[in-house]
This record gives sequence, structure tokens and C-alpha cells, in this order.
Amino acid sequence: MKILYAASEVSPFAKTGGLADVAGSLPTALARLGHEVKVVMPRYGSVDEIRQPLKSCGGFSVRLAGKDYPFTLWTCQLPDSPVEVLFLSHDGLFGRPGLYQEKGKDYPDNLERFAAFSRAVLEVPKIMNWRPDVLHGNDWQTAPVFAYRRAHLSDDPPYRRLGMLFTIHNLGYQGLFPGSEFPKLGLPPDYFAPAALEFYGKVNLLKAGLVFSGVLNTVSETYSREIRSPEFGYGLEGVLQARRSDLFGIINGVDYQQWNPAHDPTLVQPYDVRNLKGKRVCREALQKECHLPIKEVPLIGMITRLTAQKGMDLVIEALDELMRLDLQLVVLGSGEPEMEQKLKSAMRRYPEKLSVRIGFDEPLSHRIEAGADLFLMPSRYEPCGLNQMYSLRYGTVPIVRKTGGLADTVIDATSSHLEAGTATGFVFGPASAHALLTTVRLAMKLFREKNSWYRMMRAGMAADFSWDRSAKEYEKLYRLAVEKAAGPVKPGKT
Ligand code: ADP
Ligand code: GLC
Repeated sequence: MKILYAASEVSPFAKTGGLADVAGSLPTALARLGHEVKVVMPRYGSVDEIRQPLKSCGGFSVRLAGKDYPFTLWTCQLPDSPVEVLFLSHDGLFGRPGLYQEKGKDYPDNLERFAAFSRAVLEVPKIMNWRPDVLHGNDWQTAPVFAYRRAHLSDDPPYRRLGMLFTIHNLGYQGLFPGSEFPKLGLPPDYFAPAALEFYGKVNLLKAGLVFSGVLNTVSETYSREIRSPEFGYGLEGVLQARRSDLFGIINGVDYQQWNPAHDPTLVQPYDVRNLKGKRVCREALQKECHLPIKEVPLIGMITRLTAQKGMDLVIEALDELMRLDLQLVVLGSGEPEMEQKLKSAMRRYPEKLSVRIGFDEPLSHRIEAGADLFLMPSRYEPCGLNQMYSLRYGTVPIVRKTGGLADTVIDATSSHLEAGTATGFVFGPASAHALLTTVRLAMKLFREKNSWYRMMRAGMAADFSWDRSAKEYEKLYRLAVEKAAGPVKPGKT
């Protein structure tokens, strides 16, 4: 199949979170299955020309609400992959350092930026003279593609039978804008209705994907169920409930070329499941780098956006208690300024136990995965989560909340799982500082029982979350999307 994969961030070109990891690795796994995938993303000012210069494929313009948006299309290869990445550049909209914001403030013209980008995505097949079977959009930034296809192109031959899949990576981010901005989208006025993009008087760009794509999925099975409830649905549970027969859950995979302690160039010493000596060396190096005493105490790592989604408020609430325990905690993250402040001031109070790095630092994120003994992810909700899977491969035992993809990927250290040798981490239920502390204490107790601990580390390191299986699941959804585009699904065909 020919697949046009649209995303607002793609690793290694631009990244703020897990979407970039997925968009930078799923297409390669699909290519391994024999599909032809082209990835399309905006050319931000911060996009480096990695290993090879970008080649121009010419320019074109899209017109929205009487305004012309001239784009240039650029191409290069995804590193170590047969997949082609296409960049759409428009200096006025994307020639800036940030992807969505600067200094913690969203760009005020984000609606216009991602609407114009989404509309431009639909011109790519024409410019490239390439006819995709499937269009795959991700999150609110590329969701308008589906509204434009319906409103502007549904009678156009190349688009009439285009299969359409939309992936929700995080329902907490919906691309909400004041209703007064709707006209800028250049969509028919009746698209500003509850059955389309209107959401309590606002424009909700995510809804364009939820309503107008043929098939939907989220990035874990548990999250695909959770979002149909008011607790996780962020007001969209009704829309999702109505589309439940088209809504699937596929767990993300891990790019084990990027995330593998056996050949990770950022580590002082590589290691693997058969030889864990290197992990000790990485641990000491991390303690040194983070100005913590080199000690045999459990070292807990966190790499995260500092937001309530990630349960960072629970960590901050539990911090004084945590610091009473004989452990060390390394946090790498950025996000809400108040959380950044609280963490920095706690670091001044506990310099021997807590190290906080505010910022985005990919090499350090690898060194934390390798050097820590435990990895903490107390997320309030987590559509999939990647760091717990990276931790498993790095022999870093995850402590997670039982939600979304965390619940689907970590096997709790209950006595029966420990006995069977299947336990890979610690899973707790309530979103409370108390539950977090209780679980950390339990983990510390097990940390001292070296036989059980190594067994658990090894079980985690042997777990396989490579993309191959999930890519096959995406393949099934693409087929379904194409069938739907061809006409009503016949009984027994899905
Ligand atoms: P989300 O996309 O919700 O932030 P995920 O667990 O899916 O969460 O993915 C987060 C990705 O971003 C991981 O690759 C993680 O290592 C990376 N990451 C998050 N914060 C930082 C940071 N401050 N520095 C470096 N990498 C980070
Ligand atoms: C989102 C989610 C995260 C998921 C990532 C990639 O950012 O918050 O859980 O792993 O997308 O799908």
C-alpha cells in the first residue's frame, strides 16, 4: 500500500514528545512490511539538515478564506530507512524556533499554521505525482486534513477512494481556539456545528479527525476504552462513544535501534541482559554527572513533561517524604513554570538526593534510562507512554500508575508474578501521593532482594515491544480504511 503519513513532529528532525518517536519509527516498520510510506511534516526553523541536505521539489500555494499560503516542498530520507520525509516550508508560519510555542506561550496563530499545513498536505500527492491509498493523520495539528478532504476534495478522483486513518496520541490536547477564528479555516459555515468542529462555542481541530476520518485509533487498548468515559474523554467521550465501532487501540512500538543499551553511543559503557556490568558503570557516571554522591542506594529516574498529566504534582506532593528515604532521584523535564520552580527549590534543600535538570536533553535522557535503577511514571493518564518501555529494555524497573499504555506494558510485582518470573515492574492504582510513596517503599524493599530484583530486570529486558507486531495491526486498519472508502463495509468483511 501507499501511505501518506502526516505528523507535526518526527524524530530526529523535530521532537517535543512521544509523537516524534512514533512518527520517526512506525513508517520504517511499515516499509519493512513492503509498504511505501511518505512522511510529511512542517519545516520548522529548528529542523536541522541531518546527514544530508534537503532537496526542493518545487512550490505551490493553497488558498484559505481568500488568503494565499505559498509553500515549498522539500524532501530527504529518514536516516537509516527507505522512508522519504517531505517537509512543507512557509517561513511566515513555520520559520520559528519552536514547534507550537516559545517560552511557554503558544503561538497565537497556531490555528492558521496547522490549518494551512493540513490543507497543503493534500496537495502533496499532486506535486509528487504519487497516489496514496491511505492518508494517516496524527493528533490535532494534522486533524484538519480530514475536514479539508471532505469539504474541498471528495469529488477529486485521487481522493475519492482514499482510506483515512486518524490516530489520537493524546486527547488532552485538542487544538481549541475561539469560535471567532473559525472563518480563517476556509471551511463551509456548516462545519461550525456540534456534528463537526464546534465544541461548546469553540473551534476544536481534533474533532475534524474524530468526525471525518474513516477509522480511528489510540496508542493502547486501555486508553481506547478509557477515552469513552467522562473521566478521560475531556468532553469528547460522546463523539468517541458514537464512533466506537471504528475506534481501535494499538500499542506503540519501540525503535530498538535508537533505544538499546547494547549499542547506545551516548553511554559510557554498553551492556545487555547477559552482561550487566556496564549498567553499574552507567549508574556511577550518571551520579557523577548529576552531582550526586556515588552510593549503592536505589536511583530513581524521571524524564518527562512537567504537567499534571504526568502526575508531577503527585511527585511534588510526595517529595519531602521521598527524600526521607535512602534513595536518589534524577528528574529531567520541562513544562509548567510553577512545577519547574518547586523542583528547583527542592533540589536546593536536598542536594545529596535530588538532581533536577530543566530542559530538553536527548543524550541525557538515554543516560538516565541506563543509569537509573528505577523509573517513575505516576501519570494520571497515559495514552501509551514510551519511557516505561525504554526503561524495560535498559533494565531499569518501572514504577507506573495503572492507566492507559502503562497498564498494558508493565507486569506488576505481585507475589504470583514474582514467583512465575513474569513481573517487570510496579503498578499502582490510586492517583495519590500516598499510593506513590507506598509503591516506592515496596520497590526499595525488593531492590535489596538481589535475586528477585535481577530476575525482574531480566524479564523486563527480554520483553519485546518492537514495532513489527504493532505495524501489522496498523496494516489491518489501513485495509479497513480503504474498504470503508470504497463503500459500505459488507457483512463478514472486517
Ligand atoms: P509524551 O509524548 O506524552 O510526552 P511519551 O512517554 O510518549 O510521553 O514520550 C516522551 C518522549 O519524549 C520520550 O522519548 C522521552 O524520552 C522524551 N522526553 C520527554 N521529556 C524530555 C526531556 N526533558 N528531555 C529529553 N527527552 C524528553
Ligand atoms: C502522546 C502521549 C503518550 C504517547 C505518545 C506517542 O504524547 O501522551 O502517552 O506515548 O503520544 O503516541
